[in-house]
Amino acid sequence: MEKPETTIKVPEHFRVLYSPEDIAARVAEMAEDISADFEGKAVHLIGVLKGATVFLADLLRMLSIPATYDFLSVASYGDSTESTGVVRLIKDLDDPVESRDVIIVEDIVDTGLTLKYIEELMRNRKVSSLSKCTFLDRPDRRKVHVEMDYVGFTIPDCYVVGYGLDFEQKWRQLPGIYAINQPT
Ligand code: IMP
Repeated sequence: MEKPETTIKVPEHFRVLYSPEDIAARVAEMAEDISADFEGKAVHLIGVLKGATVFLADLLRMLSIPATYDFLSVASYGDSTESTGVVRLIKDLDDPVESRDVIIVEDIVDTGLTLKYIEELMRNRKVSSLSKCTFLDRPDRRKVHVEMDYVGFTIPDCYVVGYGLDFEQKWRQLPGIYAINQPT
């Protein structure tokens, strides 16, 4: 049976950075790296709502080691493309993380403030190990130093949507990654 074309139409100025095929290939590589690094262990993925849901779902299904997952939600951006610099917890995890091999799963690391906040939160909960994984890394606008363990793609300074990432809550459903403005 022929696959129906279901992808929503995007505005003309959206530029494809990564196609669904690029993404699938890279996520498979990342899952392979993580599975090798944690061989013989089980990992607990902590997804950051809402942006990381699509990436986490794909990554999870490519892992060849036992994995569980949970979500938390923080606020830092509102409906703007500029960070306010303030991060606060909106929804905490459902399950304890003490003594577990935790991997924070982010959609994109921009200023680094969100990741830094979650990293400190997790360290205070006495995890057995803490790793940081992001689908996209945009180092140009970093405000705090964060050491990443797994990075999908490093991108230039342009705002992106798709594959879970939004602009004003829209476009998360796009299967590829699109830049919606030019690099500065
Ligand atoms: P940070 O705290 O500045 O590193 O921001 C991280 C969060 O901001 C990400 O988890 C995203 O939810 C959001 N964000 C940053 N840049 C973009 C973007 O280009 N598109 C969509 N969301 C973004």
